[in-house]
Amino acid sequence: MMVILKTIDEVRKQVKAWKKEGLSVGLVPTMGYLHEGHQSLIQKSVEQNDRTVVSVFVNPMQFGPNEDLESYPRDLDADAKLCEATGADMIFNPEPSEMYAEGFCSYVNMTGLPDALCGLTRPVHFKGVCTVVSKLFHIVTPDRAYFGQKDAQQLAIIMRMVMDLNMDIEIVGCPIIREEDGLAKSSRNIYLTPEERKAAVVLSKAVKLGQKLVADGEKDAKTVVDKMKALISAEPLADIDYVEMVNMDTMKAIDRVEGHILCAMAVRFGKARLIDNFIIDCRNVDKNE
Ligand code: PAF
Repeated sequence: MMVILKTIDEVRKQVKAWKKEGLSVGLVPTMGYLHEGHQSLIQKSVEQNDRTVVSVFVNPMQFGPNEDLESYPRDLDADAKLCEATGADMIFNPEPSEMYAEGFCSYVNMTGLPDALCGLTRPVHFKGVCTVVSKLFHIVTPDRAYFGQKDAQQLAIIMRMVMDLNMDIEIVGCPIIREEDGLAKSSRNIYLTPEERKAAVVLSKAVKLGQKLVADGEKDAKTVVDKMKALISAEPLADIDYVEMVNMDTMKAIDRVEGHILCAMAVRFGKARLIDNFIIDCRNVDKNE
């Protein structure tokens, strides 16, 4: 029977009891409004661990003042059904006051990796993500934690944080899950009008184009990015925030398509700001993710 817990004390008690029995624990951190992308993370955790905890917490700290904290979609009942059906053992669903007690003033603030891509237009975002994820790690003390590759910069940042701060947790990155027409699954797709929803397919088309150019041997990063931008710009409802090619481990812009590369984009369609990407490890050209 899956439980839904609201307090840190309850979670700690349950996890301690599991650990006493020698059971391994996987954590899937989410902000709820779960879709098949989250479900694939939960499935992976259920496969790899004896117990799976899904946190459902819309973290106020990672939203900027003009972002969608208030309107971010929430549906705990539907989330609970999906989690239970997928084999999760616990949902941790704290109130903001449980996570951020009065007087809260300790943060995990990374330099470097957040100063690129989404971090440029969302300056407080990754400080909020690193802080809440490290809190969740301390609360749940998982053996493994699961993050989607759709948030590729977040994945790189969490991996770096775990390495830098010697957190004894294996970070498992999971592939992007897409709709039939290619649009990456996202809780924010709900913001799209029917016209914008159709238009948003241009993101996955741009991903495919970029992947093909690289697979065909294009080595100039700007050529790849410019062609992707041209494709997206031809869609009148698309408003590009960025399309960039960076090194996946450092988030530094690259000129040549070499090494472990991330080609990422953020594009607005009306109220929705959507992201998509592809990662290619050119150190091993056959391994296209
Ligand atoms: O990816 C998300 O949904 C959030 O950034 C996370 C990792 C749950 C932290 O709030």
